[in-house]
Amino acid sequence: MTTFDSTPASNHRSHPRRLVIMISGRGSNMQALVSAIADRGLDAQVVAVVSDKSQAPGLLWARSQGLETRVLESAGYVTREEYDQALATLIESFDPDYVLLAGFMRILSDGFVQQFAGRLVNIHPSLLPAFPGLRTHEQAIACGVQWHGCTVHFVTPVLDGGPIIAQAVVPVLADDTSNSLAQRVLVAEHRLYADVLGWLTAGRVHLSPEGRVTVEADTLRAYVLPAGHAQSIQ
Ligand code: GRF
Repeated sequence: MTTFDSTPASNHRSHPRRLVIMISGRGSNMQALVSAIADRGLDAQVVAVVSDKSQAPGLLWARSQGLETRVLESAGYVTREEYDQALATLIESFDPDYVLLAGFMRILSDGFVQQFAGRLVNIHPSLLPAFPGLRTHEQAIACGVQWHGCTVHFVTPVLDGGPIIAQAVVPVLADDTSNSLAQRVLVAEHRLYADVLGWLTAGRVHLSPEGRVTVEADTLRAYVLPAGHAQSIQ
């Protein structure tokens, strides 16, 4: 069991909060986080965007914004642990308060997760604990669920199993394909991750040693985005 040794979730508490964002692909969640810092005036700065893929399209956007980027590909590392150790060293060199996984598509080893316990946050495109892993939208349609959505959670060694910070819910429509559903969920992801970042940077998220999350000031930690709302945003 992962134990968390600090409350608020990060014990580093620098101002502005130092964020490392990790991506593997498109990076739309990264964009939402970066935009939230500017648009909402959050007390945070992205000190690095780290990718395991040199061709990740999100890197181009990050560079265009003047953000520091680093690529660490796994080729050349014999074991997952070896790669993750190099990754941890790279990330620690930026002294982050939080490490935000935003479409980072590698399973992280236990050692890595333990090292960043309480600082490592992920967004997953389902209402956990339903549909951990990949192809969540296909699974939602195949199961006939009427509600789907996304979850922001602290990361533990259990895949997509860490303490839940917040969830956003969207309806599944009768004529949905996995693509249309993914698009609706993605809109919710961008809003949810930005909201959670706001709470984190304000020091309002607390994590007990047992892994229970509380958010100060009666924050609503779940909401429903109606289909019309989601479809109106690209
Ligand atoms: C998102 O749906 C995220 O939840 C999942 O992978 C997708 C990444 O999209 N883990 P993007 O790279 O943030 O656009």
